[in-house]
Amino acid sequence: MSHTPYTADEITALGLTPGQLPRHVAIIMDGNGRWAQRRGLPRVEGHRRGVTSVRAVVEECAKLELDQLTLYCLSSENWKRPQMELELLLNLLQRYVVAERDEIMRQNIRFCTIGRTSELNRRVLQEVQKTIELSRENDGMRLCLALNYGGRGEIVDAVQEIAHAVKDGRLNPDEITESTVSEHLYTAGMSDPDLVIRTASEMRVSNFLLWQISYAELFVTPTLWPEFREPHLREAFNEYTQRERRFGGLKTSGLQPARNGSIPADGT
Ligand code: IPE
Ligand code: IPE
Ligand code: MG
Repeated sequence: MSHTPYTADEITALGLTPGQLPRHVAIIMDGNGRWAQRRGLPRVEGHRRGVTSVRAVVEECAKLELDQLTLYCLSSENWKRPQMELELLLNLLQRYVVAERDEIMRQNIRFCTIGRTSELNRRVLQEVQKTIELSRENDGMRLCLALNYGGRGEIVDAVQEIAHAVKDGRLNPDEITESTVSEHLYTAGMSDPDLVIRTASEMRVSNFLLWQISYAELFVTPTLWPEFREPHLREAFNEYTQRERRFGGLKTSGLQPARNGSIPADGT
């Protein structure tokens, strides 16, 4: 069966406003460990359970025809965790990208990753690459997994590339603009997130998309990631619709509030 997006009527029936949804949503999926600990289970059970939330959220966002969903799966700082937890996380990731291939194709999703993925073990990387290749021609929602990702590391990598281009005479330093930087980030060619959701209450960005979220709307929920489902997503989207995005300008009057816009390139 092929994947069917929601109609405008169905979106309205879900309590959402068609045409006012965020185009790119990024999620800091946090609280797996707490979910497990509260039940007297090992932390890894929370990660296992979290995969169910990933499936539900990916499918719902694809049906709502978002342009992009970016999920923070493993930060560059998460390597500080116990070896056993890391092994399980990578194992879950590998199983996810294999098990979800059919669904990704059925839902017309284009799969990609950001982060220093070359540092992941070869077995995991091969399966990730296979899913990227398989879904390359899909033109539906882009599903981007942040793996071994750190916002500062991403900026360092971009600065190094730019410095090399200057050194080799391919780039004039006076012509470096915000677009130049954007084009050297892992997210080159992607739009900036409109909405960042963080589960499990923490009021911080934990090194996620530091450059790209400069004008994103933030939504923090106490819901722990393993319990996050479609209704929580809708709550976040409804809150987003209520926000007025000003991008440093003034509150607009009249019938056309500056909602759901995107940050103009180079702040012009
Ligand atoms: C988020 O859940 C998953 C990853 C960081 C990989 P946590 O494992 O951070 O859960 P808490 O924050 O300890 O509850
Ligand atoms: C952020 O969660 C990273 C991911 C969700 C992958 P953390 O649990 O690692 O963040 P901190 O340590 O609470 O800032
Ligand atoms: Mg955490």
